[in-house]
Amino acid sequence: MTPERAHITIFDTTLRDGEQSPGCSMNQQEKLRLAQQLDRLGVDVIEAGFPIASDGDFESVKEISQVVRRPIIAGLARACRPDIERAWEALTPAARPRIHVFLATSDIHLQYKLRITRDQCVAQAREAIQLAKSLCDDVEFSPEDATRTDPDFLCRVLDAVVEAGATTLNIPDTVGYTVPSEFGDLITRIRRSVRGTENVTISAHCHNDLGMAVANALAAVAAGARQVECTINGIGERAGNASLEEIVMAMRVRPDRYPYDTNVVGEQIFAASRLLSEITGVPVQPNKAITGRNAFAHEAGIHQDGVLKNPLTYEIMTPKSVGVPDSTLVLGKHSGRHALSIRCEQLGYQFDRRALDDIYRRFVRLADKIKHVDDHHLLELIRDTHKPSGSATPLIEPIVPAQAAVVNAPAPAPEPAPEPVKPFPMAPQTNAFGVPLPAHADSHHEQTQQEDYLWGV
Ligand code: KIV
Ligand code: ZN
Repeated sequence: MTPERAHITIFDTTLRDGEQSPGCSMNQQEKLRLAQQLDRLGVDVIEAGFPIASDGDFESVKEISQVVRRPIIAGLARACRPDIERAWEALTPAARPRIHVFLATSDIHLQYKLRITRDQCVAQAREAIQLAKSLCDDVEFSPEDATRTDPDFLCRVLDAVVEAGATTLNIPDTVGYTVPSEFGDLITRIRRSVRGTENVTISAHCHNDLGMAVANALAAVAAGARQVECTINGIGERAGNASLEEIVMAMRVRPDRYPYDTNVVGEQIFAASRLLSEITGVPVQPNKAITGRNAFAHEAGIHQDGVLKNPLTYEIMTPKSVGVPDSTLVLGKHSGRHALSIRCEQLGYQFDRRALDDIYRRFVRLADKIKHVDDHHLLELIRDTHKPSGSATPLIEPIVPAQAAVVNAPAPAPEPAPEPVKPFPMAPQTNAFGVPLPAHADSHHEQTQQEDYLWGV
């Protein structure tokens, strides 16, 4: 019997912390569109904004509360009456409202930013939570800069807010300073020392200043946190927040290490990522895990050959599982003949070995110059290779008259006789995952396996 997997609440803060990214601000209509996509994505909580911050933010939180009915809608508030009341006003129409109150707890913030003592901090946090609780059942408290707070004092503040009625204790690594082992230990300590934690949800909110936000969030989950706060594409203040898609897919791809479930619909991840980029005009970095344009693109010949034979050779999740239409074979100077011939076939051309060799040589020379060979380059190269003056023997056999290419394509010629199959060391019949490799018997590529292998494809 498989042990029960704990559910992790996905708290999306793209519309609040994410929006604090330089260049990522959104108007009310854009926020609503994104909130609706977050709903389709299956997140449990949408932090829709910081209502006291501006009238626009207030209206956005209110409209999202009215329209998006399934997830919990959270609104942020500092630990003071005007903020909490304004947040509540915006959240009142929500089917499931949550007030999220924060107050810094580290000495550096108390001394230089808030200019209050530790005792004043405890009293302010307690009063703020009491007020929020008098308005709304679901109240979250965040001790800002928790990871640079004296842990004993942090537990004292948390004791006070649990007693005052907080239902979620969110532990922010506000400045992205912690590391996974330390953050896991902090969560364990809070769970052991703060009274009543068995009745509240512990949450992790990690920033990426040292590139460890996702690792820190996962360490917190392993230590007993049951909510993670994250954003689409990892956008957020400075280096960003923990990326939603990376956390969710780490749990999906490595259930042996992260045996947790979320309600996220993986197939909606890519759409959410693209919508966010479209709205903000901020592109996703090409090598971004899961949602970057290169996340499922292969250029190296050896990789392309492997992926064509069986995607598991170089892909740990299917593109479809995150809503990406398909893997891409990028044709560049590292590509091999296997990928080149497949792309030619997709464009309507099939070559015998000699013809392919010829095209391939020209292709590599071109790729050296222009880096990425697009379809139109390839079609030009094919046509050029076929020019009657350029070669005594016609090299190209179109199998399907393909759109642009057809115009100049020669008339179909009879299929050339297959070349004899060369001896080749037998490949194992299953891959490293124990999955049977696809048969190639009907493929003309089989003839060239040995050479492809030896040439590094
Ligand atoms: O990073 C942070 O500390 C925050 C809090 C408001 C939760 O975003
Ligand atoms: Zn934050």
